[in-house]
Amino acid sequence: MTLTKYFDKIMPRAVAHYSTLLWDRISFERLGDVPCDTSALAPLSSFDTAASLGRRDLADEWRSVETRMAPLGITSRAGGVNPGDRRALYYLVRSLRPRTVLEVGTHVGASTAHIAAALDALRTEDPAQSRHLTTVDIVDVNDQSTKPWLQLGSRHSPAELIEQLGCASLVTFKAQNSLDYLAQCEERFDLVFLDGFHTASHVLQEIPAAFATLAQGGYVLLHDYYPNQRPLWSDGHVERGPFLATEKLRAAGAQIEVLPLGALPWPTKVDSHITSLALLGSR
Ligand SMILES: C[S@@+](CC[C@H](N)C(=O)[O-])C[C@H]1O[C@@H](n2cnc3c(N)ncnc32)[C@H](O)[C@@H]1O
Repeated sequence: MTLTKYFDKIMPRAVAHYSTLLWDRISFERLGDVPCDTSALAPLSSFDTAASLGRRDLADEWRSVETRMAPLGITSRAGGVNPGDRRALYYLVRSLRPRTVLEVGTHVGASTAHIAAALDALRTEDPAQSRHLTTVDIVDVNDQSTKPWLQLGSRHSPAELIEQLGCASLVTFKAQNSLDYLAQCEERFDLVFLDGFHTASHVLQEIPAAFATLAQGGYVLLHDYYPNQRPLWSDGHVERGPFLATEKLRAAGAQIEVLPLGALPWPTKVDSHITSLALLGSR
């Protein structure tokens, strides 16, 4: 390949990348201080994350979840949460015991399936208590005409995964921009998991909007939180949005505490135990 052809091939992608970053930076500054009501957020100190992730009683249960998930072939190569984070989500939902969960960013349904499986286990333990997961994606992830999951390397749509897990009655899929969904949402959630669009300007609006949908004593869990904008893995990659957004909200006076989950008791990715999951609670 000649040098010119090489630059023709890479430049548009690089230009697109840097113009998105520049546009995000401008939008982020222009948003100014976004109102942020943290009154429904639970104090971070009221949940013992380390104890939850260290629960020995969930180890056997997790093995049976893995056995249930294995035939579904949920791909690890399409940008869904990695297998270690799936396990962390399962343990956190089992321990937080939310009645209602909102997920932003369904994608291939890797996190969706594991949150649903945890709600299913809670339903078995306590059949009188209703449980529900709403999962939102700007893409219609279950569209039967375009079948986006096939392009991403998955055998099944997220809805099929949930159906095969026997959790269809627990999950509702929404194809909508998260900010639009959150603005008109009347349901209240005990846990909101944000794993959608990660630009700083988007997350800066999404976090306060998520707080507004929390039931009293609810939590928000972030994916792709890179403390101090530093790489978590040797691949050098950094997603800046979730960190920049929480720092800006805190600088404007929001009483938020962020707990990056750090190293998990099991492997995650790039030969490490590190996760980008971070729990948000109030101070
Ligand atoms: C990193 S993926 C989520 C991975 C998913 N949690 C999993 O484990 O399979 C991010 C998803 O966010 C969705 N997304 C991007 N912008 C969005 C927006 N404004 N509102 C809702 N979803 C959005 C994308 O379509 C994509 O499916």
